[in-house]
Amino acid sequence: MAFREYKVGARMFGFSLGTSMCITILFPSFDMRSAVSTEVALDKQLVAGWDAGWNLSDPLMTGANKPVKVLLKNDPKTGQPLEQPTSAYVYPPGAWMPNAVGHPNNLGAGVEGLSVNQGRIGEAKKEGGAVFVIKAAQGGQPAYIENATATKGWIPGDVLKSVPDEDVAHIGAGKTMFVREGCWWCHTLLPEQTQDWQVFGAPPMLGDFNGESPTAFGSDRKGPDLLHVGSRNASKEWMMLHFFNPRLVQPHSIMPRFDYLWGSVDANGQKIDYDKWRAEYTDYREGKNPTPPDVPVPAKNSEARALIDFILSLK
Ligand code: HEC
Repeated sequence: MAFREYKVGARMFGFSLGTSMCITILFPSFDMRSAVSTEVALDKQLVAGWDAGWNLSDPLMTGANKPVKVLLKNDPKTGQPLEQPTSAYVYPPGAWMPNAVGHPNNLGAGVEGLSVNQGRIGEAKKEGGAVFVIKAAQGGQPAYIENATATKGWIPGDVLKSVPDEDVAHIGAGKTMFVREGCWWCHTLLPEQTQDWQVFGAPPMLGDFNGESPTAFGSDRKGPDLLHVGSRNASKEWMMLHFFNPRLVQPHSIMPRFDYLWGSVDANGQKIDYDKWRAEYTDYREGKNPTPPDVPVPAKNSEARALIDFILSLK
C-alpha cells in the first residue's frame, strides 16, 4: 500500500532520465577529439607540461617538475646562429611530459600524424627529458610539435646552459601559482562574445585548449579578464610593483598583495625585511614619506618570478 501512488511517476522519471542519457551518449552534438589543435593550444600545453593544477608529481603545488620556455638565438648543439630566434620548450629529466606525448590523438586530425611521424614526439621520455619546438603552419599543413631532442640532438641540459636568464620563462610554474593562489576567484581567462571583445580582446578559438590542463577559465570577475593581459601591459616592473602591493600602482585596488611569493631573499641574495617595508609604506600612506619604499626584484627561482613570467606570456 505504502508508496503505491508513486509507481507511475517513478517510471516516468526513469524513462526520462534514461532517454536523456541515451541522447547524450548516442547523439553527442560535438566530438571534442575532432577539434584540431591551434598553435595556441600547442604552446599552452608545452609551456605548462602535464598538469598545472594539483597533481601527484607536485602535491604542494610549488611549481616543481615543470618545463621552461626559452628563446634560442643560437643552435645549442653547433653554437651557430639560428636563421631567426626560436622558442623551445625544455623538459629537464623527470619533468612530466605534456598531454600531447601521452595522448597524441587529442591533437586532432593532421596535427597528430605530423607530430608523431615527422615530429617524433613518441620518442620523448620523462626519464631523459626532451626539448620541443613548434613547427609553424605552412601551405595547407597545420602547425605541429617537433621533438628537437630526437630530430636535432638538442639535449635539455645543454639548451638551458646556452641561454641567458632573461630568455628563460618559468610559465608552467607560474600557472601553478595562478591556480594555487586562487587568482581565478577574481579574474577570468575567457573574454566572451560580447562587448568584452572590445575591452579584453578576442575570445579564444575552438581548438585553443586541446590538451591544456587545467584551463582556468574562471566564472566570475571582480577584476579584468587576463587572457590577453600581456598585450595590454608588457611591463615586468609594473607587474612586480602590482603583485607586491597593488595599491602602489592602483590606489583603490581590492586585489590582495602577493608579496610572500618573493620568499626570503631578493635577486641579489639580500634578505627581504617585510616589517621594515610595511613600516615605510605606512609612513608613505600617511604622508610622512614622499615616496613609497622600493620593491625588491624577485629572485630567479622565486614564485613571484614564475607568476610574472606566466602573466606576461598571456598575449
Ligand atoms: C580579490 C580579487 C582579486 C584577486 C584574488 C586577484 N586579483 Fe588581480 N585584480 C583585481 C582587481 C580588482 C584588479 C583591477 C585593479 C588593479 O589593477 O589592481 C586586478 C588587476 C590585476 C591585473 C592587471 C590587469 C590589467 O588589465 O592590467 C593583473 C595582471 C592581475 N590582477 C593579476 C592577478 C593574479 C596573477 C592574481 C593571483 C596571484 C590576482 N590578480 C588575484 C582583483 C583580484
